Amino acid sequence: MNIEVLKEDIDRWLSDYFNNKGNFNKTIYESMRYSLEVGGKRIRPILMILTYSLYKDNYEEILPCACALEMIHTYSLIHDDLPCMDNDSLRRGKPTNHIVFGEAMALLAGDGLLNEAFNIILNEALVKGETWLKAGSIIGKSSGVEGMIGGQVVDILSTNKAATEEELYYIHNKKTGELIKGAILSGAVLGKAEERELNILKEYGEKLGLAFQIKDDILDIVGNTATLGKSVNKDSDQNKTTFIKIYGLDKCKEMMNSITEECIALLNNINADTTNLKNLTLFLLKRDY
Ligand code: IPE
Ligand code: IPE
Ligand code: MG
Ligand code: MG
Ligand code: MG
Repeated sequence: MNIEVLKEDIDRWLSDYFNNKGNFNKTIYESMRYSLEVGGKRIRPILMILTYSLYKDNYEEILPCACALEMIHTYSLIHDDLPCMDNDSLRRGKPTNHIVFGEAMALLAGDGLLNEAFNIILNEALVKGETWLKAGSIIGKSSGVEGMIGGQVVDILSTNKAATEEELYYIHNKKTGELIKGAILSGAVLGKAEERELNILKEYGEKLGLAFQIKDDILDIVGNTATLGKSVNKDSDQNKTTFIKIYGLDKCKEMMNSITEECIALLNNINADTTNLKNLTLFLLKRDY
């Protein structure tokens, strides 16, 4: 499977979704569409589809679910960038949503993306049945208060204060790890993976999610704004609790390498061709954006 083609399919689906929508409320569609269409690596929908594709060869079937997850991720970024949270003015190489549309519309665009995502999943579930409900339930949990939102809460509460290692792991596993794990698990459930493989993929998702946020922390220090498409040194400027702050840069790089090795070892226990997932895992380790 060609990842670039897959990314184009995802981008096209998301763009088509917003065609001819809105009336007096047209502005919110423009605002939602703006943040989705300015770019992004599309890692979560790609992970969902690659996992599903271990078991099935018709990924077009689950494009709506994969794109719904990207909507939820994009909503989390719009809200994360708000002045009351990380106060960022650059995202995906463009001015953040609230800079372009104002804070009220950015807040509503985030709410809109979250609700549209579940509308999409539930509408598909009405036709396709229980497997889609199970996938929706995984995504609901991973984006909720025990998932991504929980991590964002502790991230905010730990700003400007010394957090424990336990809190640090909680923040990273939840604010970022949960949606990554949710992408993988929902893909596996939609592909009807058996219990043994679901458990392996869950562990893979947990490790990959943690590694993804450690890398995000590393890039905040060593990355550059033009390549990353977002501001750098934000975490230290805002005195955030990060892996770098607690362990230092070198130890974090070592951790990234060993967690990535563990991810590959887990994929070796899956009874299917995991080449694409392995390549994506290695890309996430080496990425500079
Ligand atoms: C950034 O996520 C925020 C985190 C959860 C670490 P990504 O690095 O996946 O951002 P995009 O989607 O490519 O812009
Ligand atoms: C964000 O973590 C996690 C989300 C749930 C959006 P960060 O605040 O570190 O993400 P960036 O660095 O702004 O992309
Ligand atoms: Mg943040
Ligand atoms: Mg942020
Ligand atoms: Mg960050």
